Amino acid sequence: MKPTDWRSSVVYQIYPRSFCDSNGDGIGDLPGITAKLDHLQQLGVDVVWLSPIYASPQDDNGYDIADYRAIAPEFGTMADFDAMLAGMHQRGLRLMMDLVVNHTSDEHAWFQQARSSRDNPYHDYYLWREPAPDGGPPNNWEAAFQGSVWEWNEPTGEYYLHMFSKKQPDLNWENPRVRQEVYALMRFWLDKGVDGFRMDVINMISKPWNADGSLPNAPVVRDGFLQPGFAMTCNGPRLLEFLREMCLEVLDHYDTLTVGEAPMATVTVGQALTHPETGALNMLFQFEHMDLDIAPGQAVGKWVTQPLDLRDLQQSMARWQNGLHGQGWNSLYLSNHDQPRPVSRWGDDGVHRVAAAKMLATWLHGHQGTPYVYQGEELGMPNYPFATINDCRDIESINFYQVATRQLGWTDGQAMAAIRAKGRDNARVPVAWDATAHGGFTQGTPWIDSHPNAEQFHAQGQYGDVDSVFHHYQRLIALRKQHPVLVHGRYELLPSSHPRVSAYRRLWVDQCLWVVTNFSAEPVTVTLPERMASGQTLIGHGAEALTPGMSTLALQPYGAIMVLGQT
Ligand code: NOJ
Repeated sequence: MKPTDWRSSVVYQIYPRSFCDSNGDGIGDLPGITAKLDHLQQLGVDVVWLSPIYASPQDDNGYDIADYRAIAPEFGTMADFDAMLAGMHQRGLRLMMDLVVNHTSDEHAWFQQARSSRDNPYHDYYLWREPAPDGGPPNNWEAAFQGSVWEWNEPTGEYYLHMFSKKQPDLNWENPRVRQEVYALMRFWLDKGVDGFRMDVINMISKPWNADGSLPNAPVVRDGFLQPGFAMTCNGPRLLEFLREMCLEVLDHYDTLTVGEAPMATVTVGQALTHPETGALNMLFQFEHMDLDIAPGQAVGKWVTQPLDLRDLQQSMARWQNGLHGQGWNSLYLSNHDQPRPVSRWGDDGVHRVAAAKMLATWLHGHQGTPYVYQGEELGMPNYPFATINDCRDIESINFYQVATRQLGWTDGQAMAAIRAKGRDNARVPVAWDATAHGGFTQGTPWIDSHPNAEQFHAQGQYGDVDSVFHHYQRLIALRKQHPVLVHGRYELLPSSHPRVSAYRRLWVDQCLWVVTNFSAEPVTVTLPERMASGQTLIGHGAEALTPGMSTLALQPYGAIMVLGQT
């Protein structure tokens, strides 16, 4: 295959547990993925990002790895993996593995050794601290899945650090042996022929040590509680140094594609990490746009939402688009296994579901960067109507529910409403493939319930329908291959005459590409950007046909238009 042209690539994310089950045990698996590769080829994507498939107790659905070189039996065997990879390569698809090396599982052999005694050679693979003077945790950080980041370890009489669940102890990247272990496992997969890595919370690997070896308390933002620990560990002092070492040791010796997941990354961090000459990664997942609908100043982070103000979204995108133009590279995403479905979140999952899914896709794919499509997004899958906490499987939602209802005084109704809006399981219910039971995902009982409305959006029903969300994604992906302005063009935010209408353009040589989208359930008429009327419509739905000289444009609810013309 040709070297990875990641700037013009489109990536498709597979969450294996929920993609396709081949053996009826209710859990998606590797042969299931192999069986569906034609779907990806038909869609036109270039790269697959595969969420973790390694041996794991599955406390966090595989983001807690017990053996980096083994496949979890519920997903299949190494032979199944090899067959899947060969099937991808035959179709010209590349494979990015999920590299989860900020932490391991507590069932990883390293941690089992490390926790056994302070003298064990693996002890220093993890982060241990003495109790505070009162015997409690060494600092005030709160873990991502509730509770302290510190867990007591009886055999050594110390606490260990875990930024996520207590079954996900953080690795000690200050230890050069740890880094060499990571590089060795990366080589293992690259030598097997994989094409790159998506790096889980990679900007958390360098912790902000005090001179005395302690980790500083987080500023108090809410009295009487633990304080969010994330802000303290993201973008730490040795991050770029570690990643550059990883390039020298591993990545520079292969043709790879890399994307770093980077919560709390700023544009400056994005530039530093992805700069074409001095950076270390091809691109980042930043979270600024994903956090815009979180109500500020709440005790429970992401769970209290506010309506999205489109102007905030545009300002944020503009900052990243302009900041990384020529100085780095953006990833473009609205959706992944940690986020609710965008059509429910920022569109409409009722009567306008199809239009809203297409509009959001047009809006996203018009930007500069590498677009990511998360399984089911190309079908316009909406959120799931979780009724009780027993419907949920995600550790984050389950822990939140317990804290909210037992400690914070929330009612069951309030907590479930928050989970319906923001819970990660929304994106983890099985992909709807056809009209048979469980949307054709499994012949057995799925590990999490399949969507009750699968008949409205399953893939089989969309393949032959040129007006479907699937065809819309297919066309958008094809446009990126045909029009260099989509890859290279400079971004410019345009003034919009309506608060729920987004307008921007991309400029490249003498070409101009306009994208105008209606984020509302109302028909709107907006002023047309100058010269747009004489361009050629590349893709559009719910938008008035352009005629030269037109000065306004009528857009239906969630209508969108992308137009190519001259500057
Ligand atoms: C980010 C992953 O995307 C998420 O699913 C996981 O829970 C955490 N990192 C911990 O690995």
